[in-house]
Amino acid sequence: MERNLSLSMITVSLTYCLLLCLVAAAAAAASNNITTDQQALLALKDHIIYDPTSLLAHNWTSNTSVCTWIGITCDANSHRVTTLDISQFNLQGTIPPQLGNLSSLTTLNLSHNRLSGSVPSSIYTMHTLKFLDFTDNQLSGSVSSFVFNMSSILVIRLTNNIFSGEIPHEIANLPNLEALALGINNLVGVLPAPIFNMSTLKVLILINNSLSGSLPSRVDLSLPTVEQLNLALNRFSGTIPSSITNASKLTFLELGANTFSGFIPNTIGNLRNLKWLGLANNSLTSSTSKLSFLSSLANCKKLRFVNLIGNPLDGFLPSSIGNLSVSLETLGIGNCSISGNIPPAISNLSNLLTLVLDGNKLTGPIPTTFGQLQKLQGLDLAFNKLVGSFPDELCHLARLDQLVLFGNKLSGSIPSCLSNLTSLRSLYLASNKFTSVIPSTFWSLKDILFFDFSSNFLVGPLSLDIGNLKVLLGISLSKNNLSGDIPATIGGLKDLQFMDLAYNRLEGPIPKSFGDLISLEVLNLSNNKMSGSIPTSMEKLFYLGELNLSFNKLEGEIPSGGTFANFTAESFMGNEFLCGLPNLQVQPCKVSKPRTEHKSRKKILLIVIVLPLSIALTIAITLALKSKPIECGERSTVLSNDSILSSQATLRRFSYLELLQATDNFAENSIIGRGGFGSVYGARLEDGMKIAIKVFHRQCASALKSFEAECEVLKKIRHRNLIKVISSCSNDDFKALVLEYMSNGSLGDWLHSSNYVLNIFQRLNIMIDVASALEYLHFDHSTPIIHCDLKPSNVLLDENMVAHLSDFGIAKLLSGEDESTMRTKTLATIGYMAPEYGIGGEVSTKSDVYSYGIMLMETFTKKKPTDEIFVGELSLKHWVNDLLPNSLVEVVDKTLLSGEEKHSAAKEQCLLFGRSHITMLTLTSSTAKAGQLSLQVHSNHSYSPSPVQKS
Ligand SMILES: *[C@@H]1O[C@H](CO)[C@@H](O)[C@H](O)[C@H]1NC(C)=O
Ligand SMILES: *[C@@H]1O[C@H](CO)[C@@H](O)[C@H](O)[C@H]1NC(C)=O
Ligand SMILES: *[C@@H]1O[C@H](CO)[C@@H](O)[C@H](O)[C@H]1NC(C)=O
Ligand SMILES: *[C@@H]1O[C@H](CO)[C@@H](O)[C@H](O)[C@H]1NC(C)=O
Ligand SMILES: *[C@@H]1O[C@H](CO)[C@@H](O)[C@H](O)[C@H]1NC(C)=O
Repeated sequence: MERNLSLSMITVSLTYCLLLCLVAAAAAAASNNITTDQQALLALKDHIIYDPTSLLAHNWTSNTSVCTWIGITCDANSHRVTTLDISQFNLQGTIPPQLGNLSSLTTLNLSHNRLSGSVPSSIYTMHTLKFLDFTDNQLSGSVSSFVFNMSSILVIRLTNNIFSGEIPHEIANLPNLEALALGINNLVGVLPAPIFNMSTLKVLILINNSLSGSLPSRVDLSLPTVEQLNLALNRFSGTIPSSITNASKLTFLELGANTFSGFIPNTIGNLRNLKWLGLANNSLTSSTSKLSFLSSLANCKKLRFVNLIGNPLDGFLPSSIGNLSVSLETLGIGNCSISGNIPPAISNLSNLLTLVLDGNKLTGPIPTTFGQLQKLQGLDLAFNKLVGSFPDELCHLARLDQLVLFGNKLSGSIPSCLSNLTSLRSLYLASNKFTSVIPSTFWSLKDILFFDFSSNFLVGPLSLDIGNLKVLLGISLSKNNLSGDIPATIGGLKDLQFMDLAYNRLEGPIPKSFGDLISLEVLNLSNNKMSGSIPTSMEKLFYLGELNLSFNKLEGEIPSGGTFANFTAESFMGNEFLCGLPNLQVQPCKVSKPRTEHKSRKKILLIVIVLPLSIALTIAITLALKSKPIECGERSTVLSNDSILSSQATLRRFSYLELLQATDNFAENSIIGRGGFGSVYGARLEDGMKIAIKVFHRQCASALKSFEAECEVLKKIRHRNLIKVISSCSNDDFKALVLEYMSNGSLGDWLHSSNYVLNIFQRLNIMIDVASALEYLHFDHSTPIIHCDLKPSNVLLDENMVAHLSDFGIAKLLSGEDESTMRTKTLATIGYMAPEYGIGGEVSTKSDVYSYGIMLMETFTKKKPTDEIFVGELSLKHWVNDLLPNSLVEVVDKTLLSGEEKHSAAKEQCLLFGRSHITMLTLTSSTAKAGQLSLQVHSNHSYSPSPVQKS
């Protein structure tokens, strides 16, 4: 009886408990409705301190339904927010705890923004959440152990943040987790072992942290469902257990750059689904000198990528290497202590794109069978002991873009068939024993970016045709026996950054045209027989940071202007008859030139931009100059950062599939801009590179007849103020250009946004950038490229606020005509369009210059030419013309007139604008004292700089 009673009491209390729970649950449901959701989202909006496109500011307004807000999806029945996706909005701010109140949320995607601070623990308790993506922000703190509350979670992506601490072992308790990506953070400690046993996990990406420990060595390394395992760039150690072959679903295994040691399991080929095997830069070895594990890999029929670089394998390449999957695209066995000959059987791997065998002890010749690797794009055999000649068969590799053979014992001549390698972008033959002349056909490789033939025994003069290599970035011919004069045509290499011709027998003068090598950063002509004087034209080489002219027979005065002010005695020693300043340890010059021109420039702060406008217009803006100190210094350091490596981006090729993946199937939310021709998507590739993809409308796509051919031309057009065309992708009804990504949006955004203000110097810099780009398009090509649609929204700004003109050459793409005047009626944008354009449809370089003038006015007045005040006869141009110079304050953008009164010294620095051919900046001491800047826009019919004006 007593027992029954107590039982029933238990039942009662249990029921009561249950009821309480139900009530509590009901209360929770009642208190969470769309209003809660709205409050949570408005809290998020409040925590955003920078919203460059004002998307949230304009769209997330409380007078419209939450479910219509951008980035929000609601459930049709419950009217609750189920998706919050504001990826790639470039938002800066923090995540408020209220976000955890979105109690019906299944997808939370905040990726690719600039969010910082820690993730509130309320987020980790959202038990409806299935997808969580914070990839690519600046989030910090540890990954909370509350994470086990996310009982529905399928995918957690927190890659590329600054999370620290250990990975909570509670993660292994998540019952449904399929993907965990915590790469590129500061995580430490040992990876919780239970993670290896999770029965749902398919993807585990922990690349680039500081995680340590070893892989579980017994059968408990089961990873039964894992398809992708990426532990690269950590501190993992120990052996690769042979039980890893239990992970039979594995397609992607990347363990590179750790300290794994021991043998690579000879059973590794049991991973039959393997496509990617990355073991580079560990201390792995092979159990046999015939590299048996390689033979085992022949069982992996889907293999596409094998990277063993930087492991002390210490063996020979077996001929069975030719039995590897024919689908193999990348094979890296560099720096592996491999001896013996290169087995010709490698040539069976007919789909190879990249083959890297450098830094070994390989002997014998380069197999002539390599000519069969028809798809090869990169071949690196550097630093071995290869002998024999350069096989002509290598000239069959029509797709080769990088050939690296330096540091071998190759001999004979550089073959003339090299000119067949029309895809070649870089060629390294240095430190061999080549003895010939440089074949004349070599100079027809018009697209080559780098070549290094140094430390050989090459003879003969440099060909005049060197000027053909218009896109060349780097050239090294040092330590050969070259003779003769340096041809003046070398001045045509406008992109050349690096030139080393030291230790040859070159003679004659340094051509004056060296002053045209405007991109040059490093120049070494030392230890030759150069004579004559150093051309003063070289003072214009704004980027020249290293100069070595030592040990020649140069004479006369060492220039002292421009970057020459920074060079020391070392640059000039060993030239008996040079004269100059005492610090250069040369004799003093007899007569020193007066440098009056220099002083007069410092007198006036006057910006003269010369425009060939048909209608005279003069804007003289005299501003009470109260803006902030100028940041010229920052800018010039930025300029020289354009390193040689970045140009490698030009080598990339993309498939439609890659673009599809990178943009989430061209999802609406990846769109970063729209134009008359189509849409522009922002995307990040798997390797982290950011790109923009311009996809042409279908009807436009059909008009782009010679798209591919034209793209090839555009890809070669390179200027720091033009958006770089990285690649193109086209088939019958899909045409796209892959472009450089510009993180700061367009000039249009900046001019007409209320949040951000460009100061006068930023505006000026931007307009100078645009002018440089335009000058390049109009004059630096055999047929001028006309932009046709110059306007602020086509001027994009990179992270350093350097302007890059976009959409150039689109007109060219659309017309397929090369004439400098062509007919079109559809291209330009009203307001920026030159009058003659409207009437006859004639397009010429002049119409671009007209549009430039209009844009210049817009930039300083902040008035769009389409502003509603401009009606009838009154246009922006007339308005500016009428009101200047007397009513300056009415014309100029008001924000330029506000701010503190600071100027003078810093502004004088800005005199060093030098780079642009069409601008000149000078400072009057008088106007500077008065704190005034005068800006003059003159009409003229030429691009040449007009004489310095005094005021
Ligand atoms: C949401 O809940 C709050 C109280 O929890 C209530 O005041 C409000 O009316 C509810 N709103 C809607 C739309 O149901
Ligand atoms: C909503 O409010 C904003 C200002 O908060 C206003 O600009 C906008 O016009 C309003 N929209 C509607 C549809 O009422
Ligand atoms: C917010 O953006 C969405 C999606 O672009 C759009 O449909 C909606 O009309 C916008 N709402 C406002 C108030 O601008
Ligand atoms: C190079 O190309 C020319 C013309 O296409 C061809 O005749 C020649 O055989 C090629 N040489 C080699 C070595 O491939
Ligand atoms: C001279 O060198 C200094 C320090 O490296 C640098 O800041 C400055 O810009 C250089 N001057 C010129 C004219 O290149």
